[in-house]
Amino acid sequence: MRLCMIGTGYVGLVSGVCFSDLGNEVICVDKNINKINNLKKGIIPIYEPGLEELVLKNYKNKRLNFSTNLKESVKKSDIIFICVGTPTKKNSNSADLSQVYTAGKEISKSINKYKIIINKSTVPVTTGDDLEKIISKNVNKKYFSVVSNPEFLREGEAIRDFVYPDRVIVGSNDSKSQRVLKSLYAPLISKGAKYISTNRRSAELIKYASNAFLATKVTFINEIANLCEKIGIDVEDISIGIGLDKRIGSRFLRAGPAYGGSCFPKDTKAIVSTADKFKTNLSIIKSVIKSNNIRSDLLSKRVNFILKNKIKNKIVSFLGVTFKANTDDMRDSSSLKLIPFLSKKGAKIKYYDPTGSKKEFRKLKNVEFSSSIKESLKGADIAIVHTEWNDFKSINFKKFSKNKKLIIYDMRNIYSPDKIKKHGFKYFGIGR
Ligand code: UGA
Repeated sequence: MRLCMIGTGYVGLVSGVCFSDLGNEVICVDKNINKINNLKKGIIPIYEPGLEELVLKNYKNKRLNFSTNLKESVKKSDIIFICVGTPTKKNSNSADLSQVYTAGKEISKSINKYKIIINKSTVPVTTGDDLEKIISKNVNKKYFSVVSNPEFLREGEAIRDFVYPDRVIVGSNDSKSQRVLKSLYAPLISKGAKYISTNRRSAELIKYASNAFLATKVTFINEIANLCEKIGIDVEDISIGIGLDKRIGSRFLRAGPAYGGSCFPKDTKAIVSTADKFKTNLSIIKSVIKSNNIRSDLLSKRVNFILKNKIKNKIVSFLGVTFKANTDDMRDSSSLKLIPFLSKKGAKIKYYDPTGSKKEFRKLKNVEFSSSIKESLKGADIAIVHTEWNDFKSINFKKFSKNKKLIIYDMRNIYSPDKIKKHGFKYFGIGR
């Protein structure tokens, strides 16, 4: 099939490349000419394991193309995916849908035959209805269908999540587009993916409810971890103990710093805002947002406690600053609160991240990027392990640090406390 992806951000690029790898002809469109030129040269704008290889392979075999010409790309395609950003509006919790609607208007000017327009951007319920209205101003309804097909890709695992999804959700109010979509996804369905067809509004809500539920699960275990710290038991045992109950499930029960990224914080706020519009109080999700917001303060206080209220002049090795491992994404990462806190308190922070230095910390006092784990640990009083990169899982602290009193604050519980203590270091984890 001939597909057009509007927006070469995370969702558009990964989905477009993966669809081309399944044998479809795909044009990825973006307004940003530099981005498009770079993609043609194989320069990928985001860090995502496996993506570069797939781009090069499919661009070379001409199934994948890149363009800034939306009009021509839409004309050449049967299915158009809208994959643009839906950030939180300034001074409000609701999603800014201007890019989705602009894409809809532009598509409507290029419809030359029946097209399926799919919203892959994360949007509040009823956005599909509004998009349909916008397009029908220029085009008769029999020439297009508006469908919701949310994505469930995790950053860092996006290719695998695309190829082996737990489910594919397609929300459409007509059978023609459902038939086409089912055949587009046939290669994944044949490998075991469950295909759920539903109406458009349901598909839109499934996306928000999924992210809100996962954010709730993470926040739940983070609060249980707070309790474990007070009682002196290990939250890892609790996660295993409750996760084995199939009704609960073991995934997304890893206690850690506050959840971050471009999705959970934005989507939890947006679903609450949508519900408000429909005069419904989503009190659980509101509490989740509140609990997650105060979590960084809680962790800052814990660092203060660990360092016995003497943060000033302490040398802090901060390992991993992105919101999770296998991504270069800094959005809503708890390091954005923790590092400024430490800097303000007079610590000297040497941070290392496998994805390089970050502009967010450039202006902060006493914060510098170290080019390796070893460099970051040199002279450190405390090592704060903030993300769960494999690179950090078997650090030989004894080899890298001459400081016998080194404290390790493991914010992802990736080490065995006993092993660390055996080497003579002080160990603190989350909820243990
Ligand atoms: C999330 C969803 O998992 C995807 O299904 C969805 O497609 C995506 O949002 C989106 O809407 O685009 P992502 O933001 O990439 O994916 O990251 P997650 O792996 O879900 O992690 C989110 C946050 O929760 C991270 O800060 C992570 O460290 C934290 N987390 C996750 C935990 O603290 N513990 C866990 O057990 C799991």
